[in-house]
Amino acid sequence: MLGKWLKESKYTVILTGAGMSTESGLPDFRSAGNGMWNKKDPGKIASTEALNYNVNEFIEFYRHRVTGLKECKPHKGHYILANWEKRGILQSIITQNVDGFHGLAGSRNIAELHGNLQTLHCQVCKKEYPSEEYLHDHYECTCGGVLRPSIVLFGEMLPDQALDFAAEESEKAELFIVLGSSLTVTPANQFPLIAKQIGAKLVIVNMEPTDFDIYADEVIHNRKIGEVLEELDRVF
Ligand code: APR
Repeated sequence: MLGKWLKESKYTVILTGAGMSTESGLPDFRSAGNGMWNKKDPGKIASTEALNYNVNEFIEFYRHRVTGLKECKPHKGHYILANWEKRGILQSIITQNVDGFHGLAGSRNIAELHGNLQTLHCQVCKKEYPSEEYLHDHYECTCGGVLRPSIVLFGEMLPDQALDFAAEESEKAELFIVLGSSLTVTPANQFPLIAKQIGAKLVIVNMEPTDFDIYADEVIHNRKIGEVLEELDRVF
């Protein structure tokens, strides 16, 4: 049904999670086995507490993530979504991902709910730097402040502009598609419900079941997102 609804929908919004980028080579957070939070406690390593009281381990963790990010790139699925936006098939993307791959693939209408790991900023003066600084072991701003990733850490508020855009888009959706998210984290997992409440069709494409499957009009499990998107793209 997803192909039919995608053709009929006049306003389609997609929410992506880490499962959108595993086929680029980036690990997700909660998949059995390779998920990052199976090996590290996010509250202890990806939080404001870690930044303030455990800065060496914090920087080491994010230096590792930036290194991985620079070795990976958007896959065909990211480019399909960017092409759909250009052709008016897809209106916007709400992403929980910080890899910046939707923008690098050419998508423009994006709400980056959790920020972007391609950029660092100074903890004190907020001056921005490319995240490559971490690869050159540069961790301090010219003002002496610590350089931290421009992402939302556990314990921090999400950016208002991204939240407002995501809410506006969800309230306009005729079709809302979730790609590769366990829908574990609030407020990102509320946008599918907002769309559903205003009468949108909800489709969840995720390798594993989620707690939100009960609200979906269709769920697609045990299939890779890249394959699903390539199959859909062939009918347009
Ligand atoms: N195709 C389809 N589904 C996939 C694929 C794939 N190729 N790869 C992984 N998945 C699914 C996994 O089964 C998993 O359920 O994607 C889901 C990713 O879920 P999480 O790892 O929980 O990632 P996400 O939902 O994006 O996490 C949300 O949590 O830690 C925070 O800030 C972090 O943005 C992240 C947020």
